[in-house]
Amino acid sequence: MADESDMRARELSIELPRTFDAGIYFIGRIRTPFKRREDCPRNTAASNSTGRVELDPRYATGLEDLKLYSHAILLYWMNEARRDLMRQVPGHLAQPRSTFALRSPVRPNPIALAVVKILGVEETAFTVANVDCLDGTPLLDIKPYYPSIDSIPAATVP
Ligand SMILES: C[S@@+](CC[C@H](N)C(=O)[O-])C[C@H]1O[C@@H](n2cnc3c(N)ncnc32)[C@H](O)[C@@H]1O
Repeated sequence: MADESDMRARELSIELPRTFDAGIYFIGRIRTPFKRREDCPRNTAASNSTGRVELDPRYATGLEDLKLYSHAILLYWMNEARRDLMRQVPGHLAQPRSTFALRSPVRPNPIALAVVKILGVEETAFTVANVDCLDGTPLLDIKPYYPSIDSIPAATVP
C-alpha cells in the first residue's frame, strides 16, 4: 500500500499482487531533453522536442525496415511512476478519474504509448519528433503506425 502522504484527496490506492505474471525485456532507451518529470510535456501533442530512440544492438536487425514508415508507435515503461492508484486526480482535471480512463503514467503496469513521427533511422537508433518522456525512459516495443488501423476519427472523449 502506498504512502498516503503522496496522495491527493479523493485518490484511491490498492494493494498490488505480491508476484509478477510475466517478464519483459527493455529493448532500449528513449533519449530526450527532459531530466525531471515536471519538465516533460503533458503528452506528445504538447511536445515540440526531438528524441532519440536507442536500441540494444542485439535488436538491430529488427529495426532494418522501420524506414519504410513515416510514423511509429512506441511503447515505453514509465519507470518513475507509482503503480497502485486506481482513482487519480490529475493536475489538469481537479476531479477524480479512474486509472483506466486516464493516460497517466500511474497504473499497475506503467506502460505508455506514443505515436511519433520518424525523422531518421540509423543502425541501432532512430530520431523521432514530439517526445514526452524523461531522458532514459526504458523502451518496450516499436510498431509501425497504420492510419487504416490506428486512427478512428469518429472516436469521442469526455
Ligand atoms: C501523461 S503521460 C503520457 C504518456 C504517453 N504519451 C501515453 O499517452 O501513454 C506523460 C507524463 O508522464 C510523466 N513521465 C514521463 N516520463 C516518465 C517516466 N520515465 N516515469 C514516470 N513518469 C514519467 C511526465 O509527467 C509526462 O508529462
